[in-house]
Amino acid sequence: MPEFQSNISLKSFNTFGVDVPARFFVQVHSLVELQAVLADTDMKEKPRLVLGGGSNILLTRPFDGLVIKLSLHGRDCVAEDADAVYVKGMAGENWHDFVQWTIAQGWAGLENLSLIPGTVGASPIQNVGAYGVEMKDLFHQLTALDTQTGRLCTLAKAECQFGYRDSVFKHGEVGRYIIVDVTFRLPKVPTWHTGYGEVQAELIAGGVTELNAQSISQAICDIRRRKLPDPTELGNAGSFFKNPIVAQTQADVLKAANPTMPVYPQAEGKAKLAAGWLIDQCGWKGFNAGAAGVYAKQALVLVNHGGATGPEIYSLAKQIQQSVMQRFGVEIEPEPLIL
Ligand code: EPU
Repeated sequence: MPEFQSNISLKSFNTFGVDVPARFFVQVHSLVELQAVLADTDMKEKPRLVLGGGSNILLTRPFDGLVIKLSLHGRDCVAEDADAVYVKGMAGENWHDFVQWTIAQGWAGLENLSLIPGTVGASPIQNVGAYGVEMKDLFHQLTALDTQTGRLCTLAKAECQFGYRDSVFKHGEVGRYIIVDVTFRLPKVPTWHTGYGEVQAELIAGGVTELNAQSISQAICDIRRRKLPDPTELGNAGSFFKNPIVAQTQADVLKAANPTMPVYPQAEGKAKLAAGWLIDQCGWKGFNAGAAGVYAKQALVLVNHGGATGPEIYSLAKQIQQSVMQRFGVEIEPEPLIL
């Protein structure tokens, strides 16, 4: 049975670097340990928070319950057919290391998702995405521990109800399932996605003549390093807001008044707007309120310059939401879990 610790600072367990204590804390290294922790009579009724990389959370108060840090490791090719290989990563694997491992094995598919912070087990919750690819595009199935029954279950793609930065794990009985491993289907004949934003230009600038998972991954890493802060150097949780999806008719009205506004048409008469652009237009880029701030190179990212509290970051986020609502009449929603 792993050891329960009490009153542990969560500062090093969330990429915002917010310093709040957890009443109880435990790190689990195997499924057996996880099951033992969940069955513990003293801990059973306490509020529970399962942490992967802590890269998609804003902690605004002490956590008065049990924090479980999932450190389940391992990765393997579990099956192969004529068209694809199936690779499984345990939940605690670092996402970027997992992606790089698949590329080193000669498999393609996950390259556009290089350098996204977080873990393999957290990737389906958000359906992480970048540069024209979402995790769901390569997802095969996952194993989760159902905390209600104590049993392991397999969830196929349809059951996960993936959407833009969304899945079944963010709705209904949040926290019921603890993801323990994820399997991806990587097609043997890859499709390269280089049409998004600056990817093509980056490849050309880098003198890339042959497209492969390695060269695309490198280009994506170069773009991300230029545009997004490294959480080990500057506290952040990636995009703090989701790009809002509005009716195409509303987008048309806004576009007529703001000709430079990016609009990405979606299905069913909807359009996605760029939250970063909206926030930037409201003048927030590079703004600081004490140690909380808006990243100077990307308005969608809130940062902790050191010592910012969760409420300070959250208060800045609310001011940004209000100003975007006032100026454009558009609601922008936070992407991370706010606790
Ligand atoms: N823009 C601005 N000012 C800014 C930021 C963006 O004018 O400060 C404009 C850009 O010029 C561009 C548009 O807004 O025309 C969109 O910007 P960008 O292509 O950089 O992407 P994004 O919409 O800001 C999304 C994801 C990122 C992902 C990138 C690349 C969301 C919420 N964010 O950002 O994901 O890396 O596309 O695919 O969907 C994350 O989720 O944590 C994340 C970093």
